[in-house]
Amino acid sequence: MQLGADHVRVRVPATSANLGPGFDAMGLALARYDVLEVRALGNGDVVVDVEGEGAGEVPGDEQHLVVRALRAALDLVGAPQTGLHLTATNAIPHGRGLGSSAAAVVAGIVAARALVADPAALDDATVLRLATEFEGHPDNAAPAILGGATIAWTTTVEGAHAVRLDVHPDIEATVLVPTVRLATSRARGVLPETVPHADAALNAGRAALLVEALTRSPQHLFDATEDRLHQEYRAGVMSASWELVRALRAEGLAATISGAGPTVLLLGRVEDRDRADVVLRDLLHGSDQWRAYRPGIDQGGVRSERVLGSTGLPEPSPRQVR
Ligand code: HSE
Repeated sequence: MQLGADHVRVRVPATSANLGPGFDAMGLALARYDVLEVRALGNGDVVVDVEGEGAGEVPGDEQHLVVRALRAALDLVGAPQTGLHLTATNAIPHGRGLGSSAAAVVAGIVAARALVADPAALDDATVLRLATEFEGHPDNAAPAILGGATIAWTTTVEGAHAVRLDVHPDIEATVLVPTVRLATSRARGVLPETVPHADAALNAGRAALLVEALTRSPQHLFDATEDRLHQEYRAGVMSASWELVRALRAEGLAATISGAGPTVLLLGRVEDRDRADVVLRDLLHGSDQWRAYRPGIDQGGVRSERVLGSTGLPEPSPRQVR
């Protein structure tokens, strides 16, 4: 397949995975974005300019995650490799459990989709499967692609799948981002091989309830975000975050660790915001160790466009993942 454009722009949301009981399955897209521009160069050069999160830290060459994902997507559809100039303006914090690596992978693949002559060859289902090969689990990639809340699962034969849920309009998300970072590999390394049957049973029920709470009955968010499979096991590698989750939950607030941490996610109803703010002020005491955001829930997932002057037509937006 040939390229159909030489200059594209991609906007990809932050995501919060797990949401308590939905380990490696549930996710939520947040309206905080990395924005990338990719230009195909006539030569074989790779130029990477990063502003914002990750600037001066991430690789500036072929090893950059966006470049690797973009190249894998071009290979998948038989498109030619090309020199690249990547400009990334990043707002998703790195190493905090807000899906920065899934965002980079999804953005790279979707940039490839916008560059090639037949974008339908990289529909959302294909983007999710390829992104999951990079990530190892689909729970951040799914909401980054689809927006809203998502349930993702993997089958042996076909790989990753996802469905999107419309989040109830009364629900809002607050994220409490610590200054410290934590590698996902470290947070996964402390998980046990087996868990008690009663804990697995509790999580299954709570994950089912979470779907109802997120979409129709937000009054059940507190019970629906209870988890016994991962958060407490990880307390030793993110003690301040786990303490904050416990303190918020002791006040009846639906707090969880965001993804593999150490960010804390608080889900709540708009009508409970003032009370949540009082509790947060009391617990954080103006601490400079945490930054609080209420980013809003992203509804549409990753977006791409061909930049004016680029060749070809605007990219169609195939949305269905099966
Ligand atoms: N479900 C994953 C975990 C999310 O908790 O390890 C991190 O990418």
